[in-house]
Amino acid sequence: AKEKRVAIAGFGTVGTGVYEALYAKRDKIEKLIGGSFRIPVVLVKNTNKIRPVSEETLVTNNVNDVLAANVDTVVEVTTDATTAYPLVRQFLQNGITVVTANKELVAKHGEELLALAKIYHCRLYFEAAVAGGIPILTSLRHTLKTNDITRIEAIVNGTSNFILSKMRKEGAAFDLALEEAQANGYAEAVPDKDIDGWDAYYKSTIISHWLYGQAPVWAADKPRGIRGVDVRDLVLAERFDARIKHVATIEAHEGVVASVEPKLVLSDHSLYGVEGVNNGIHVEGSIVGQLLFQGPGAGKFPTASAIIEDVINHWTGTSEQEPESSELPRATANVAETADS
Ligand code: HSE
Repeated sequence: AKEKRVAIAGFGTVGTGVYEALYAKRDKIEKLIGGSFRIPVVLVKNTNKIRPVSEETLVTNNVNDVLAANVDTVVEVTTDATTAYPLVRQFLQNGITVVTANKELVAKHGEELLALAKIYHCRLYFEAAVAGGIPILTSLRHTLKTNDITRIEAIVNGTSNFILSKMRKEGAAFDLALEEAQANGYAEAVPDKDIDGWDAYYKSTIISHWLYGQAPVWAADKPRGIRGVDVRDLVLAERFDARIKHVATIEAHEGVVASVEPKLVLSDHSLYGVEGVNNGIHVEGSIVGQLLFQGPGAGKFPTASAIIEDVINHWTGTSEQEPESSELPRATANVAETADS
């Protein structure tokens, strides 16, 4: 079989995680794809930093080196949407499949980029853009496609959940908890996007497009983040057997309505126990009932895991991320309820 070739654009926390994990799992990957693979090039901003890469990998700050490297796939994990957008366009226009973790990029430009990919006979994958290591997009589309999904309640920002958990458990100050989230590699380059709710807003937009083929109507003109939450609020909530969580809600009936805000979550709610950097996605399906997907929502290897699975699915042809239509659930009741009544 022909050798597969993947480049990595952006070599920060997630980029190095992808690089390390691809090498660590080389034998297994080569079995899965029935051939060999190579990482001929990584694209960085600053070529003066020492990079722990093998001899086969060129480290460059020139995008033309990537275009000349004859890769079929690029993993895009640069710092922000402004950097990523022109790059991803360029890769797709050269027929190179892109696997990205960039939620702002996909939320703002996903439709255009998917159309570009179609024109240039390549693909755009973004499982890593929503809920880090949890394979939520793949699950929603491939293993829940017959269920009507009418309601999703989710903790999708690992940084915010980490901060709220740490403040509550240890009485930590907001700024210190944020610093730790940054040091652990959870936060975005500009953490305002995390703590002001925009990261969860982008992820909700992606889920809405993914499931229903449309952006949600937002309950408020801006998302609400966790900046105003005080340790005293967290302690007070506990007295009512509740926790304050940063929750994104997506509801689909006639249309799609979404909100992103800190909420009081009672102890019998499935998101109550989702703590630390974990994300939790509570999904209500018309056949299955209520599900909770839970796991690490940010960080080096969880995010690398989602990216690598996209790459390998692409190489093995086992993913089909774009079904012909995504539609709103029909206005019928839950199957189980209907059957019972
Ligand atoms: N900054 C994001 C978070 C990274 O904290 O959830 C994962 O998308």
